[in-house]
Amino acid sequence: MAYSGPFQAGDRVQLTDAKRRHFTITLLEGESFFTHKGEIRHSDIIGQDEGTVVRSSAGGEYLCFRHLLVDHVLSMPRGAAVIYPKDAAQILIEGDIFPGATVLEAGAGSGALSSWLLRAVGERGRVISYEVREDHIDYARDNVATIMGGHPANWDLRLGDFRSVRRGDTGEVDRVILDMLEPWEMLETVRDVLIPGGVFMTYVATVPQLMKVMEGIREQGCFTEPRAWESLVREWKVEGLATRPEHRMNAHTAFLVWTRRLADGVVAPRPQRRARK
Ligand SMILES: C[S@@+](CC[C@H](N)C(=O)[O-])C[C@H]1O[C@@H](n2cnc3c(N)ncnc32)[C@H](O)[C@@H]1O
Repeated sequence: MAYSGPFQAGDRVQLTDAKRRHFTITLLEGESFFTHKGEIRHSDIIGQDEGTVVRSSAGGEYLCFRHLLVDHVLSMPRGAAVIYPKDAAQILIEGDIFPGATVLEAGAGSGALSSWLLRAVGERGRVISYEVREDHIDYARDNVATIMGGHPANWDLRLGDFRSVRRGDTGEVDRVILDMLEPWEMLETVRDVLIPGGVFMTYVATVPQLMKVMEGIREQGCFTEPRAWESLVREWKVEGLATRPEHRMNAHTAFLVWTRRLADGVVAPRPQRRARK
C-alpha cells in the first residue's frame, strides 16, 4: 500500500468539498462515486498527485488526499472507544516506543493504538496485542488490515485474558501498554513480562481508576514511583482580529500513568517529601 506518490488503485482517498465535508472512497479501476453533485470517476483520480482537485459531472469540486493514520483512526468502525491521537502521541513519546522494540498491549479494542505502535516499532519490532472479546478482536484485525494494507507480519494479535499471560507466553518485553477498565488487576502480568528498565504505561478514564492503579503499582514494589498526567490540546482559530482559542475541545479523555520496571530484588529509594514547617 502506497503512503505517498501519485494515487493508485487500492488507495483510500479522502475527498473534501467546499463545505469541508469529507467522503472516503477506495480507488478501483472502472468505478465511480456518486455525490449530490453528480459522478466522480475513479480513473480521474488514479495517477494524479495528492492534493489535486477532481470535478464531478455536475461541477462539484473535491480536494483529494490519502488518509493519514490520524484520519483512519478517527473515522474507522469501532467496537470499543479508541485512544485519541493526542494521547497516543503521549504514549509513543513518554512510553519511548522505539524502532525494533517488543511491545505488549491490551486490550486491542478497535486497533487504534495497535496501529500507532506498529508504525513506531517498524519492521524490526514486534507488537503483541491481547483482546478478551471476540467481537472486538475482529474490529482490531479488520481496522489494522485496512490501514496497513494487510495483516502486518510483526503483529501478533491474540484472543485471551491479559491477566493470565506470563513470560512463557510472550518472552521478555520492552514496553507494556494497557487500555482497559481494571489495569490494577494486571500488574502481576506486567511485573512478570517487563524487562528491567522497561516502561509500563496505562490509560484510565476516571479518578477512582487512577487512584487504584497508582496504589497497585506502588504495592508491587518492583516499579519506580508512578507519574500521572493528562494531555489537553486546544485548537486555535487564526483569522485576523478574530484570532482566539476554539470554544470547544476534547478536554478530558483519560489519564496517563507511567512507571519503569526495577531490576529484580531492588527496592527503590523512597521519594523524599519536604518536611512541613
Ligand atoms: C478501550 S478498549 C481499547 C481500545 C484500544 N486501545 C484502541 O485504541 O482501539 C478496551 C479493550 O480492552 C479489552 N479488555 C478488557 N479487559 C481485558 C483483559 N483482561 N484482557 C484483554 N483485553 C481486555 C476490552 O474488551 C476492550 O476491547
